[in-house]
Amino acid sequence: MEIVHTPVMKEEVLSYLIPKNEDAVMIDCTTGEGGHSEAFLERYPRLKVIGLDRDPSIQAKATERLKKFQDRFTPVPCWFNDYLETAGDESADLILFDLGISVFHYVESRRGFSFKSDERLDMRLDPDQRLDAETVVNEYGEKELADLIYQYSEERYSRRIARRIVEERAKGRITTASALADIISSSVPPAYRYGRIHPATRTFQALRIEVNRELDRITPALKQAVRVARPGGLIAVITFHSLEDRQVKWFFREEAKNGVVEILTKHPVVAGEDECRVNPPSRSAKLRVVRKVEGKKDGYENKKETGA
Ligand SMILES: C[S@@+](CC[C@H](N)C(=O)[O-])C[C@H]1O[C@@H](n2cnc3c(N)ncnc32)[C@H](O)[C@@H]1O
Repeated sequence: MEIVHTPVMKEEVLSYLIPKNEDAVMIDCTTGEGGHSEAFLERYPRLKVIGLDRDPSIQAKATERLKKFQDRFTPVPCWFNDYLETAGDESADLILFDLGISVFHYVESRRGFSFKSDERLDMRLDPDQRLDAETVVNEYGEKELADLIYQYSEERYSRRIARRIVEERAKGRITTASALADIISSSVPPAYRYGRIHPATRTFQALRIEVNRELDRITPALKQAVRVARPGGLIAVITFHSLEDRQVKWFFREEAKNGVVEILTKHPVVAGEDECRVNPPSRSAKLRVVRKVEGKKDGYENKKETGA
């Protein structure tokens, strides 16, 4: 089994997420190939990790990689927001989110995540779900397509791209990632076509977000994570674009204002130059960490009990 994803800011995550006791429980909400989970299981010999991922193919890789830790790693195939909703109050010491998709999805999954491939436009993390990228591209209305491309990627040529998609699909269904990438390239001005990033990059991000409802899951999951964390527990989130980071920043700010968490990263932590050079996905990564405030409610109740 070849591991293709390098965990982003692994050392930085380890330096913030330090469990207070030996028998701590960690929820890795986005296990992927298990890079972060492995680092924690190696560093803390009695730590237990509950590893979530909605994609069963990548989770099978993590399970194989982490079987050496026996029952210290428990894989759970699910959306992280669904899992956290039903998890017990104050049941985890460490909670990690490393959002988005893995290098695995681009290079191994064969689901059309990469615009360079001639794979079918699928992009589902959950193989049982009905909505896939081919349906979005071929069946959504032009305005709906333009809006989602703009909202989920801030693509400034969203309207032109949507219009060209609708023209092209009238000639025949668009079924592969490379066919869609060519359509997008032909719909934008030449200067943009040969710019810093491939002109299809943003549209592909938007389609993936739509198919997997990625942005709808973040704030609900963070709300639950705060409940699920034990007092003094730590929550870390790595984001890869501003639409994700904005949600995390605002949610943590509000919770800090309410005295529920303490922000440990006044400014988001970014990857160092060396990491950015060897691991390109880390270039856009931002890490934010909070600690759940200790003893707020308990302190009050203790005072009542002791009559203090
Ligand atoms: C950036 S990768 C994680 C990489 C991992 N930390 C590692 O070191 O290998 C994100 C993973 O989270 C999964 N994922 C994304 N959103 C999810 C969600 N809402 N619920 C569950 N899994 C999700 C993806 O399938 C992907 O495998």
